[in-house]
Amino acid sequence: MGCKIAVFGTGYLGATHAACMAELGHDVLGVDIDSNKLASLASGKAPFFEPGLDEVLQANIENGRLRFTTSYPEAADADFADIHFIGVATPQKRGEFAADLSYVDSVIADLAPLLTRPATIFGKSTVPVGTAARLQQTVLGLAPARDDVEVAWNPEFLREGYAIRDTLQPDRIVLGIDRERPGRAEQVARQVYSDIIATGVPFLVTSRETAELAKTSANAFLATKISFINAMAEVCDVAGADIIELADAIGYDPRIGRKFLNAGVGFGGGCLPKDIRAFMARAGELGANQALTFLREVDSINMRRRASTVEKTRELVGGSLIGARVAVLGAAFKPDSDDVRDSPALNIAGQIQLQGASVAVYDPKAMENSRRLFPTLEYAVGVAEACIGADITLVLTEWEEFRNLDPAKLKTLVREPRIVDGRNCLDPERWRACGWTYNGLGTR
Ligand SMILES: NC(=O)c1ccc[n+]([C@@H]2O[C@H](COP(=O)([O-])OP(=O)(O)OC[C@H]3O[C@@H](n4cnc5c(N)ncnc54)[C@H](O)[C@@H]3O)[C@@H](O)[C@H]2O)c1
Repeated sequence: MGCKIAVFGTGYLGATHAACMAELGHDVLGVDIDSNKLASLASGKAPFFEPGLDEVLQANIENGRLRFTTSYPEAADADFADIHFIGVATPQKRGEFAADLSYVDSVIADLAPLLTRPATIFGKSTVPVGTAARLQQTVLGLAPARDDVEVAWNPEFLREGYAIRDTLQPDRIVLGIDRERPGRAEQVARQVYSDIIATGVPFLVTSRETAELAKTSANAFLATKISFINAMAEVCDVAGADIIELADAIGYDPRIGRKFLNAGVGFGGGCLPKDIRAFMARAGELGANQALTFLREVDSINMRRRASTVEKTRELVGGSLIGARVAVLGAAFKPDSDDVRDSPALNIAGQIQLQGASVAVYDPKAMENSRRLFPTLEYAVGVAEACIGADITLVLTEWEEFRNLDPAKLKTLVREPRIVDGRNCLDPERWRACGWTYNGLGTR
């Protein structure tokens, strides 16, 4: 028998989670405050690009297991859910490193007073350590069912672009419970995820604090790995070494591993940058700020990649960007996503424009989001239009479409065949053979 589940927040995380829970056979209600987003989801179309999500949405709307609403009472109704997942955003606070928890707090403030019978709240949003315990106290004060409402944390590790696979076939499931007063949360989670657990996926039960930290420390590690290889790329550049060969050479060591060792313009998106900052802020509050000062360096190496790409572009066009025509291929923070939150590609495009260049941007999926965030950039309908008359071409997101570009064809469109491969995703020999000046990062 499927469970009855409500998912609060139907963005990248929540919409995917809701659809996948329905796919597992549960009866799911997605709850959001954005009625436009809900209307799109209810019609079987995600309001953002995520491969495979529309198909899962449509199948489960049709079979009646997945619905959407703005109504909290509907979600907490006696006929509906006792299992509530929270997937709302936890962005960086304005002007501070700390996470803005107002969305999470507002879900609890609206939901808890409606909980008149035993229920389990599973947080999935990425939050500072200690949040679940604090929310448990709030719930105790607001919910008529009092301590029959349990707050557990079940952090989400999905990657945009692979969200469906990562939700249905995760590497692991982590569940943080109140170790002092364990209730039903573990049993409920085992029921919700029973099909996944049956396939052998590790199910780790920890304290709530460990679960919260598992997510933030995983992101801190990944950010560090990217900044590590980007720092090595800086050294390669001055030492005449090659970062791709270096990454291969060290990546064969299983203790290091080759994944996440691709030098480039750095990390961005709605998670890594704000998560490492929130982690530093929280460690400071807890009196452990020294433990995470290295993350400041990780952040600054990452930001330096953006600035140095702008600088390199300026040098390559002869020392000034004023009047230069620049084609930027890629706007999303990574391929197979339309997410432009804190995207290095758009940030670089914006900085280049500020220095006087005219910048034409093309991305296979992120045009609409980019236009909203950076309305002053010029947007092209395709690679060809972006590159017409370009003095320099920058590949800043490693979409398959860009990896497969034909350098000979593109050369007939640009003014100068100069390319900056901001993701080291092109074959330098192929481009050079066609007469292009190729510039990778830390590579020959
Ligand atoms: N996007 C990812 O790849 C990813 C992966 C792992 C973890 N996370 C974490 O998941 C959380 C959500 O991230 P996201 O990328 O899905 O954000 P998002 O901005 O895409 O979605 C958040 C949604 O919450 C809704 N919302 C806001 N207040 C609400 C309320 N009071 N009630 C109901 N809905 C409300 C918004 O309208 C929006 O649709 C964050 O903590 C993020 O760090 C995201």
